[in-house]
Amino acid sequence: MKERILVTGGTGYIGSHTVVELQNAGYEVIIVDNLSNSRADVVDNIGQITGIRPAFEQVDCLDYAGLEAVFAKYEGIKGIIHFAASKAVGESVQKPLLYYRNNIVSLINILELMPKYGVEGIIFSSSCTVYGQPDQLPVTEEAPIKKAESPYGNTKQINEEIIRDTIHSGSPISAILLRYFNPIGAHPSALLGELPNGVPQNLIPYLTQTAIGIREKLSVFGDDYNTPDGSCIRDFINVVDLAKAHVVAIHRILEKKQAEQVEVFNIGTGRGVSVLELINAFEKSTGVKLNYQIVGRRAGDIEQVWANPERANKVLGWKAEASLEDTLLSAWKWQLRLRERGIQ
Ligand code: NAD
Ligand code: WQD
Repeated sequence: MKERILVTGGTGYIGSHTVVELQNAGYEVIIVDNLSNSRADVVDNIGQITGIRPAFEQVDCLDYAGLEAVFAKYEGIKGIIHFAASKAVGESVQKPLLYYRNNIVSLINILELMPKYGVEGIIFSSSCTVYGQPDQLPVTEEAPIKKAESPYGNTKQINEEIIRDTIHSGSPISAILLRYFNPIGAHPSALLGELPNGVPQNLIPYLTQTAIGIREKLSVFGDDYNTPDGSCIRDFINVVDLAKAHVVAIHRILEKKQAEQVEVFNIGTGRGVSVLELINAFEKSTGVKLNYQIVGRRAGDIEQVWANPERANKVLGWKAEASLEDTLLSAWKWQLRLRERGIQ
């Protein structure tokens, strides 16, 4: 029998790509999502790609009884991948309580239900934001956690601690914390991708919306940083590569291969790319000229960060594979498809 995996936030950007890879790897997936930042038709699109329509429950992770009903309905869930969270950094500064409640209470509900229903392990979506501006680059998992720059970032730090404390207290579950760097791109089918809400705050959706004419011009936030071309540097990780990291991680938990009950992995490419380099790569791979302008720095931006992904490479046997050019092309095809569908 196929092993059952519950994916919270499974209709979202990273979640939907992960559901595809889980199904391709032979897992049975149950998605829980309240659709606060995603669309129900994502479930159909996953079905179109994989030939299997995953089970979908429109449930809010804040609703303990609703969530418990899912565990009871789908007996024998083995593992959980917990994506469901609010993720807009700027909004979290405006509405901290919404972020603390949604991101923290959701996790607490899940951690309480797991042992009750015999669920063995959880994979948690953490972020490189926990490192702030690292003292050494590339950053390893041992780097100190810096004071969070936003309530959103703080929820990731607190959630990591909640998981560690819960396991330390004797909970029989295992956990893998995946610290993602900057996920970008879309499924090569252009059936799944990122759906930003309102004016995008992140680089790639703003860039592709500019390229297609929804936005007039991309603002590059600063060219006076202490980097080779003066713009910020990030580790842009292809979303399908990122999705595959979850498959090997869940496998590791279910095969009981973990060296410790809580493990943490950086999920990045190991390559730092500047904002200006990325714009060049986009123009080269798509043949589309981008209208952009250098403006002042954005408050709270980290100057440069990229991963040392060696632990994930060696221990998980996972490695980022997609080229930056192919990844940017996939983001562009997704933007074109959104227009065809009349969405954005
Ligand atoms: P997303 O907004 O596309 O997906 C999150 C999904 O969770 C959405 O479908 C939303 O409707 C759902 N959701 C939110 N709150 C919920 C709740 N209370 N109950 C049920 N469903 C709920 O975001 P994403 O980019 O796919 O991010 C997934 C996870 O990865 C998040 O935890 C995010 O913080 C983390 N992460 C994202 C990035 C990034 O740059 N995208 C980087 C690092 C970490
Ligand atoms: C990337 C670079 C901007 C928009 C955020 C969160 C982080 C993580 C990923 C979840 C920066 C520059 C951007 C624009 C620009 N999420 N930029 N013009 O800031 O690295 O990380 O998302 O955990 O927590 O903080 O990503 O895509 O916003 O920015 O020049 O219009 O692009 O200054 O250097 P960031 P981003």
